[in-house]
Parts: sequence; structure tokens; C-alpha cells
Amino acid sequence: MQKIQIDLHERSYCVLTGNGILKDVGKIIKNYEAKTNIALISSEHVTKLYKDTVQKSLIENGYKVHFIKMPSGEKNKNFATVQYLYDRLLDLQFDRSSVIVALGGGVLGDTAGFVAATIFRGIDLIQIPTTLLSQVDSSIGGKVGINHERGKNLIGSFYQPKVVIVDPLVLKTLDFRERVSGFGEVIKYGIIKDRIFTKFLLENFDEILSLNNMEHVNYAISRSIEIKSAIVSSDEKEDSLRMILNFGHTIGHGIEVSEGYGVFTHGEAVIVGMCGAIKLSSDIGNLDKAESEKLIKSLTKIPITPMVENLKEHEVLEAMYHDKKVKNGKIRFVLLNKIGENVVRDDVTDEQIIEVIKWIKELKFG
Ligand SMILES: NC(=O)c1ccc[n+]([C@@H]2O[C@H](COP(=O)([O-])OP(=O)(O)OC[C@H]3O[C@@H](n4cnc5c(N)ncnc54)[C@H](O)[C@@H]3O)[C@@H](O)[C@H]2O)c1
Repeated sequence: MQKIQIDLHERSYCVLTGNGILKDVGKIIKNYEAKTNIALISSEHVTKLYKDTVQKSLIENGYKVHFIKMPSGEKNKNFATVQYLYDRLLDLQFDRSSVIVALGGGVLGDTAGFVAATIFRGIDLIQIPTTLLSQVDSSIGGKVGINHERGKNLIGSFYQPKVVIVDPLVLKTLDFRERVSGFGEVIKYGIIKDRIFTKFLLENFDEILSLNNMEHVNYAISRSIEIKSAIVSSDEKEDSLRMILNFGHTIGHGIEVSEGYGVFTHGEAVIVGMCGAIKLSSDIGNLDKAESEKLIKSLTKIPITPMVENLKEHEVLEAMYHDKKVKNGKIRFVLLNKIGENVVRDDVTDEQIIEVIKWIKELKFG
């Protein structure tokens, strides 16, 4: 088992990763959680797969477990679900000495995490992420929240868990496309922070995505968590450095929104968005042209299901203007000087954005 520390003063915590550690959850959290009254919250599909393993381990280790099933899917990351979870916890006569264990992907973790952050002004939270995206991204860093009908993740809070438990073996039951989605964030960490990691990922992405080499998968996950935790540790509330985590997300967000959520997965949109950001980095920034072409060539080998040729550049641009990352009416891009070195720019013109989206439409993925 590997232990990665997230340093946030009195809110510091560990991320524990290891193949098969799901069956030891009860034993593991004894080191981090003294309170014994647990609400185990999971989504429909994950419940069928992993709830019994986790529940058994908790009960065997002396925890009193109440199970709550949450509806899955982005459409349920909303007030109605939060209200439902509040009601269930109050029915169970939970109080401040209770704990929420969130077992599932990013939708579940964000929603259950928001409930933990707000009920009784905050109760303990343990995250057990089960998608690649949630293992390397959403469960790390304390952003919890839900969607509002006017936009994604508009309601939320920063609320750090007590511990995060990551079992890479659960990815075996995850859809291939969901693995690609998480891989988008993994490769992002490499490109923004670590040249050697980027090379490793681009050379081994087939084996990682197919889960044929669990050693590679474990390394991809733990190195991603290390990079995210280092960034979050120095900028917990996204005042400055944390902005670089948005690499690829500016155009990515525009694509997700303009195409309608669900057409591109988040990670697919980020992979396409990273190609755009890399192209802009060499066209109008300091990234070496040969480096840019090499990176784009590697990234376009990743299989992406939806067709980029169908993108409508003016709709993507318009959606980009409605993003939370827009500041004073200006779209902000994270661009590269080189792999591992970034710059935030707000002077990319609408014409340059339209041009790069037209260029994206010509790309062939997979
Ligand atoms: N809090 C943050 O910092 C942060 C960062 C990035 C993304 N997010 C949020 O994360 C959400 C996306 O999360 P996601 O990509 O994990 O999607 P998700 O939670 O919707 O999960 C995708 C699907 O996989 C299923 N699933 C989960 N684990 C499985 C497993 N092991 N085997 C089989 N099926 C499994 C789920 O039931 C679901 O149907 C978005 O709402 C996004 O806004 C949050």
C-alpha cells in the first residue's frame, strides 16, 4: 500500500492506494476515524459491485453501518439528491459524531461530499473513489458540490476528507470509455508538471487503458495523485497555482457544453482541449513547434468516441465565455512554455480561438 500525504495544516490527510485494499477498508480507517456511526453512500451500479465488500469490512471492524443508495449520473448531482440524502441522514438520527463514507465516481463523491460539508456544519468524510477520474482528480483536493440548472458545479464548498482510499483493481469493471476519460486528467498532470511521466504515459497508454499492466496503472494513478496533491497543498482554494489544473479545460469546457453534456465525456473533451492548448502554445506562445507536433501526434492516438469534425466553432467559443474561468470578460488559457512549465494567458483573441477549433476539427483520434 502506498501513502501520499496532502499537506493542508490542520486539514491534512492521506491518500492510500493499493490493489485490493477495498476489502481492508474497515481495518484501514481505524487509523483515521474514531467515530463508529457510518453512512455508507453509493450509487446504483457501484452498490451492486462493491458495497458488500466495503460494508463487510466496516462491520467486521466494529463500525455500525447504515447504507444509503444515491441515484447515479450527472443529472442527479443536484439539490433534489442533496435533500434526499439530508432526509435519510436525519431519519437515521445522525449527528455530528457520524461519518459519511462515499463509495463511487466523481458524481457520488462530489454530492455526498457536499452533504458531509453542510449537514450539521460539517461531519467527517471518507472518500473511496471508484472511477479513474475520481481516483486521480475529484476525490483529491476537497472540492465538493453540485450542479445548478444554470451551470455545472455552481454550488459547492472546499471540504477536505479524513482519508481517501484508492483501489485500482475496481477499474476492471469500469467502461473503457470512462477509463479514457480519467486518462485525460492523468496525461494532463504529466504535461503540466512532469516530462518523464508524460513520456511514460504516452508510451504505455495502451497497457494502462486496457489494464493489462497493473504496475503501470498503479504508477499512473499514484504519480497523478502526487502532482495534484502538491498543487493543492500550495493553493487550496484556487487563488493562483491551482489554475494550471485547468490545462485543456478551457476549450474542453466549451466542447462539453456546446455539444451537450454526455456527448463527450469530461476527459475526452479535455484531451481534445489539450490538443488545442498545445497548438496555441506553439502558434502564439513559447512552445517549440517540433515539441508541439510530437505531443499532438501522441495525444491523437488516444481513442476518442465522438467526432470532432462535428464541432461548431462559434458555439464552442460562446460556451467558453460562460465558463467560471472567465475573469473580467476575458477567457483565460493555461498554455505551455514547455512540458512541465505553464503560463496563464488572457490575451488569446476570438479569431485565434476560432482558428484553433477549426484546426481541431481536422484531427483524427484513435
Ligand atoms: N471535485 C473535483 O475536484 C472534481 C474534479 C473533476 C471532476 N469532478 C466531477 O466528477 C464528475 C465525473 O466523475 P466520473 O467521471 O467519476 O463519473 P461518474 O461519477 O458519473 O461515474 C461514471 C459511471 O461509472 C460508474 N462507475 C463508477 N465506478 C465504477 C466501477 N468501478 N466499475 C463500474 N462502473 C463504475 C458510475 O456508476 C457511473 O455510471 C463530474 O460531475 C465532475 O464535475 C469533480
